[in-house]
Amino acid sequence: MDSINNHRNKLLRLFPAPVESVTLKGLYLNQQLHKLGTSSQPFVYSNFITSLEGRISLEHPQKKTFVVPKAIANPRDWRLFQELAAQADVLLTSGRYIRQLAQNIAQDILPISEQPAYADLIQWRQSQGLAPQPAIVIVSDSLNIPIPETLLNANRPLYVATGSEANWLRAQELKAKGIQVIMAGTGLLVEGQKLIAALGQEGFTTIYSVAGPGVLKTLLAAQRLDRLYLTHALRILGGEPFDILVEGEQLDPPADFKLHSLYYDAVEEEKPGQIFGVYESVVSKMPGDKG
Ligand SMILES: NC(=O)c1ccc[n+]([C@@H]2O[C@H](COP(=O)([O-])OP(=O)(O)OC[C@H]3O[C@@H](n4cnc5c(N)ncnc54)[C@H](OP(=O)(O)O)[C@@H]3O)[C@@H](O)[C@H]2O)c1
Repeated sequence: MDSINNHRNKLLRLFPAPVESVTLKGLYLNQQLHKLGTSSQPFVYSNFITSLEGRISLEHPQKKTFVVPKAIANPRDWRLFQELAAQADVLLTSGRYIRQLAQNIAQDILPISEQPAYADLIQWRQSQGLAPQPAIVIVSDSLNIPIPETLLNANRPLYVATGSEANWLRAQELKAKGIQVIMAGTGLLVEGQKLIAALGQEGFTTIYSVAGPGVLKTLLAAQRLDRLYLTHALRILGGEPFDILVEGEQLDPPADFKLHSLYYDAVEEEKPGQIFGVYESVVSKMPGDKG
């Protein structure tokens, strides 16, 4: 039996009360994120898996690049990742991830996976009137993005978001491939407010960042992240250097959250468990917010 349907895997909802057993399949899909945003106020969320000491990546043993550690990535968290993607009408990814895709060392092609295990999610999108796959926005200041053919032929809208001082020639090359280029910043970098406003104008209401610390910080600094999904794998890895959720300058003001929900995934006895935490931004003014 696979790890999603294995009944020895016990998933407990710890918050909100009462504590009770819940099933993994549908856990995040049932949150109906696709109904929370509007084009004037898109709903923006992101997710990460971290080791118990907070690492989000380690160096790939052969290639000189950082990837999500194999020791914490797991199919149960991956199922939830796919459920989050299933509700999005656009995914934010990074120039770096596209370079990894082109080198064949990315974790996976961008969701939603077309593997049979996720066919229910593609059907679910259809039943909700959503496009078969979310659009993709690649955030990049260098515009050094070798877009793989698989992505160009994937029949999903492709955008690149960059700052207005980005390399003009590279922007034209991308446009010539049918990619829409969004200028969402006054310098080289993309600014969170401008990016989300521009995507809202494109008609997107549900925006999922599957990128890493750079894009997360861009969203947090602009106070444009509504919800953070964080899986803590209960395993300590060690290693150098220390890659965490956000890097660089301190956020001013800090980004504050409230607990939305918390689950303990006991997995099988001989394996480490994991905690699924869902955190709601305190500044978020989404429908249903109490603040
Ligand atoms: N554990 C997890 O759940 C998880 C999730 C995601 C990522 N990660 C890890 O995090 C590490 C970094 O991932 P990542 O590179 O995809 O994420 P990232 O730090 O969000 O993205 C970095 C790249 O995105 C572009 N970028 C980011 N912010 C930008 C801005 N404001 N304006 C313009 N461009 C911007 C730049 O692209 P250009 O270089 O093209 O200019 C930059 O090199 C990787 O090791 C990855 O494995 C872990």
